[in-house]
Amino acid sequence: MTTTMNNTERQSSERTEKLIQEINEWKVKRNAVILAHNYQIPVIQDIADFVGDSLGLSRQAAATKSDVIVFCGVHFMAETAAILCPDKRVLIPDLEAGCSLAASITLEGLLNWKAEHPGAIVVSYVNTTAAIKAESDYCCTSGNALQIVKSIDPDKEILFLPDVFLGSWVKRMTGRENMHIWMGECHVHAAIHPRAIDEKMKQHPEAELLIHPECGCLTPYLDRVARQDKGDQLKVASTEGMIVRACQSPAKQFVVATEEGILHRLKKENPDKEFIPIADEMSCQFMKMITLEKLHAALVNNQFQVSVPEDVAAKARLSIERMVAIG
Ligand code: 13P
Ligand code: SF4
Repeated sequence: MTTTMNNTERQSSERTEKLIQEINEWKVKRNAVILAHNYQIPVIQDIADFVGDSLGLSRQAAATKSDVIVFCGVHFMAETAAILCPDKRVLIPDLEAGCSLAASITLEGLLNWKAEHPGAIVVSYVNTTAAIKAESDYCCTSGNALQIVKSIDPDKEILFLPDVFLGSWVKRMTGRENMHIWMGECHVHAAIHPRAIDEKMKQHPEAELLIHPECGCLTPYLDRVARQDKGDQLKVASTEGMIVRACQSPAKQFVVATEEGILHRLKKENPDKEFIPIADEMSCQFMKMITLEKLHAALVNNQFQVSVPEDVAAKARLSIERMVAIG
C-alpha cells in the first residue's frame, strides 16, 4: 500500500527539513554542541550530537571543546553543565522546562534537615538545583547512586535526597541503616503501581523488565520478585543503563518502566527487538517542552542562558567532582 502525503503534511515535513538544515548551519556558526536527554522527543534526539542520561550528558558537557552547549533537557541538567563549564555559554531552549523532583526540596528545607543531623554526609541526586548541590557533599545519578553510597564511611549518617524511591532502593541494596531519605518524588515515575507491572509481565512472560529506580513500584515489586525468584528477568537501571542492557541482552522483548521518550532510542538501536511501555501515558511534560522550533530559536538568538553564581557553582562543583571521581 502506498501512502501519499496531503498538502498539510507536506508543508509540515518541508518546515521540519528547513529547521533541521538551519539548526545544523547555526550550530557551526556558534561553535555549539547539542546535548539531548533520552526523554526528548525523537526529532530532538536525532539532531543532537549526544543523547544520554544525566551522568553521560554531564560528562559530555565537561569534555566539550565547543563554545556553546545547547542543553535539550530540563533546567537542572543545564545548570549542571553550567557548573561544570563556567567558561562556556550554556543555553536551554525553554526556561520553563523544570522538574517536579528537583522542586520537591528547597534550600531552607535542606538547611533545617542538616541542622537536625549535624555531621551527616549529604548525598543529592542530580535532579536538584545548584543551590542544593552547593549544600551537598556528594552528587549522584541513577547510574551511580549505589556506588556513591557504598563509598561512604559506614559509620557516617547519610542524608539522601530528594527521591524517596531511589533512596529506598539504595538503602535496601546497601543494607545501610544510618541513611535518612527525603520524601520527594517525580510525578511521572511515582505513579507506577506494582499491579501495572504484574499485568504487563503476565501478558509478556518471557520479557525482561527494565525499571528506573525513581519508580514508585520498585521496592514493592522487588519484594515480589524475591518471593518468586524471578530476579534474572529484572534490571534496575538509569536510562542509559537501559539502552546498554537492551543492546547486550539476548532477550527479544522488554517491558520498560520509565518515561516514554526512551523508546525512540531503544527501538532505533534494537530494530529486531520489541519494547513494551509499562503505561502509555508515562510522559514528562517538562522534557516535552523542548521542540525543534525552540532549539532553532535558541541557536539563532543565542538564548536562554543558564548560569550559576560563581560562589554557588564552586561549592556545587565539588559535590559533582566527588561523584565523577567515584563513578
Ligand atoms: P537518568 O539520569 O537515568 O537519565 O534520569 C534522569 C531523570 O530525570 C529521570 O526521570
Ligand atoms: Fe524530573 Fe520526573 Fe521529568 Fe525526570 S521525568 S525530568 S524526574 S519530572
